[in-house]
Amino acid sequence: MRVLQKRLLGFIAMALMGTSPSWAGDPSMEAPPPKTDVSGLPAIAEGWAETNPYRGKATVVTTGRALYNESCAVCHGADLNHRNQVGPNLLRLERGCQKVEDAALHQRCLSDVDHYFVKSVRRGKRVLDVQHMPPWDGVLSPPAVWAIRTFIESRIEEQAKARVSAVKAAP
Ligand code: HEC
Repeated sequence: MRVLQKRLLGFIAMALMGTSPSWAGDPSMEAPPPKTDVSGLPAIAEGWAETNPYRGKATVVTTGRALYNESCAVCHGADLNHRNQVGPNLLRLERGCQKVEDAALHQRCLSDVDHYFVKSVRRGKRVLDVQHMPPWDGVLSPPAVWAIRTFIESRIEEQAKARVSAVKAAP
């Protein structure tokens, strides 16, 4: 409840300061179509895959990052820097999978996160009649959404590596 209150207050503050885009905090919030060129993304099967078809594909990260910064950063923070943002920290999306050591189970766990990610993005987030995040269904194509997911994954991986080298460097 505390977190929810904080987020609602964030919205009210944004609205009062007039710093938000016109659609933020609006119950009928509509997601604006992205201007980022997605034509260079590798082709994938039609429809929504169960698992990120771009997983581990470094070539899509740049486009994913541009899409993220254009569409999501206003609430989740530029380059996923979530400090003082209304939206939750997307770098924590996979925290439940990090302790799963079995490789096959780990992949299944990531697949569950993929499912939740796509569902959240397509439907948006609505709590107690307040639209917290607009639905992106029909606005962001499957390749665009998976490219964003891949950008987030690449940052999660970078963070994990940085943690490992920090531990190694410790006396
Ligand atoms: C207008 C603000 C806003 C925008 C724009 C926005 N989000 Fe969100 N998003 C939120 C809020 C607020 C929540 C938390 C809602 C809740 O828990 O009810 C959220 C939740 C999520 C979640 C679930 C996270 C979790 O930990 O449960 C995902 C995934 C997500 N957003 C991805 C995205 C992506 C990807 C984009 C860009 C395509 C995006 N969001 C754009 C505000 C936004």
